[in-house]
Amino acid sequence: RPPTLLFSKQFYPSATRRLPQAIIIGVRKCGTRALLEMLSLHPAIQKAAGEVHFFDRDENYYRGLDWYRMKMPHSYPEQITIEKSPSYFVTPEVPERIRAMNSSIKLLLIVREPVTRAISDYTQLRSHAATAPSFTFGTSSPQRSFQQLALHSNGSINEAYRPLAISVYHNYIHRWLETFPREQILIVNGDLLIEDPLSQIQRIEDFLGLESKISTHNFYFNETKGFFCLRNETSDRCLRETKGRKHPRVDPLVISKLRRYFAEHNQKFYELVGEDMGWPE
Ligand code: A3P
Repeated sequence: RPPTLLFSKQFYPSATRRLPQAIIIGVRKCGTRALLEMLSLHPAIQKAAGEVHFFDRDENYYRGLDWYRMKMPHSYPEQITIEKSPSYFVTPEVPERIRAMNSSIKLLLIVREPVTRAISDYTQLRSHAATAPSFTFGTSSPQRSFQQLALHSNGSINEAYRPLAISVYHNYIHRWLETFPREQILIVNGDLLIEDPLSQIQRIEDFLGLESKISTHNFYFNETKGFFCLRNETSDRCLRETKGRKHPRVDPLVISKLRRYFAEHNQKFYELVGEDMGWPE
């Protein structure tokens, strides 16, 4: 054989960019980054860097699957490629677009207690507004509190406020369940991912058909950060400071009011997914 063949793909077929076999579809502020980073501790998982936003942004989607594949990391045939783009969950076109690419793909949906998620979302939006150029938001207007945004002045709930609307999970999950069999979607408990990450990671290894490789040795609690950080053979690392922000204090009466509002919505979500998350009412 001519020597060039020795270096051809036939002999070194291994690492190449592949379309994902699993996607973390959301929900934003529920621990999507922590989940992706934790899963990538598994030797059989390769993660895409950043958020790809292929299925939710038309300008990306119409570039086609080759563009998408090029955003993926190199992987070996026995490995699973995974990406996360939290806005997939709330974008109506996305389930059908993902199904058209791969109808047997595995989907991970991480959820968190809806009021905490809404406050986390508010905290992130507020921090972005604080660092945005003054011409974007104006310098003189003081930032409004979570309570001012979540409740109308007459005390009723401002259901149109985006951080609250995104926490009404049943409004979005139904479309996914109409598009994919229930067994292809794993609901990950974001509150438990914070307290006991391994409990969720082991469920996912099982769901993805992977040998259990991630163990207690891969996590250590960092008192300063107040969260678990990640450990592998080469390094110890925590997520960035934008993950695990301090939340503003919210009046307990407002929290109770919002929890009562979400109780009915949560029930609908439990019924649709067939799982009770046990969120406080
Ligand atoms: P907070 O910043 O409100 O605490 P996302 O990556 O989807 O934006 O989610 C961010 C949330 O991930 C954080 O919200 C934090 O609570 C949660 N999280 C879960 N495990 C974490 C970890 N080990 N380190 C930091 N944040 C973690």
